[in-house]
Amino acid sequence: MTPRQTPFAIAALAAFALLTACGSGDSPAAPAESAVTLENGLTARETIEARQAHLKNVGKAFKTISDNLKAGEPDLAAIQAAAAAIPSEVSDMDTWFPAGSGPDAGVKTAALAVIWEERTELETKITNLQSAAATLDTTAQAGDIAAIAEAFKATGATCKSCHDKFRAED
Ligand code: HEC
Repeated sequence: MTPRQTPFAIAALAAFALLTACGSGDSPAAPAESAVTLENGLTARETIEARQAHLKNVGKAFKTISDNLKAGEPDLAAIQAAAAAIPSEVSDMDTWFPAGSGPDAGVKTAALAVIWEERTELETKITNLQSAAATLDTTAQAGDIAAIAEAFKATGATCKSCHDKFRAED
């Protein structure tokens, strides 16, 4: 090998290494989950991860309210911010469960197959949550802690009602 050829050879080897690295990542044998897009234009993984991220945010906001209601001196501003966040988190919840984003998707999800069998009931439970969360927000902004506690309880009942039927237990 002459000195003139060496840099080219190294570059070629590096390019080959890159190619093989890509090749192994694309191996069709690896994941059972497919790259097929669902009716929302996203893959099942993207759909499920987005859904879970929204629900995590809702869970966090809910915990902030719960912790503050239990505290001797609730932080009203923190309650108000958390209550204001929930309605927008769940505003498009009816689009979070497209066909193909259930337990057969090959992605870890606690969404039960019954969601796709009893769609009307799921949608009723989504509406119930949205309406309770809107009331919780309005009540929180008004600032009466006792009334907030009532609205919080009513909202929590809508979470539980859906989880009991449509979410797998931990
Ligand atoms: C209409 C049904 C429904 C309602 C209402 C609902 N959830 Fe859920 N929730 C689900 C389903 C289904 C899952 C599982 C999602 C998945 O794993 O793909 C879930 C998952 C979660 C998770 C776990 C997210 C994760 O993967 O880490 C949290 C936290 C959560 N919900 C909180 C709440 C709270 C708080 C409320 C009420 C303010 C609520 N949910 C209302 C259906 C609902």
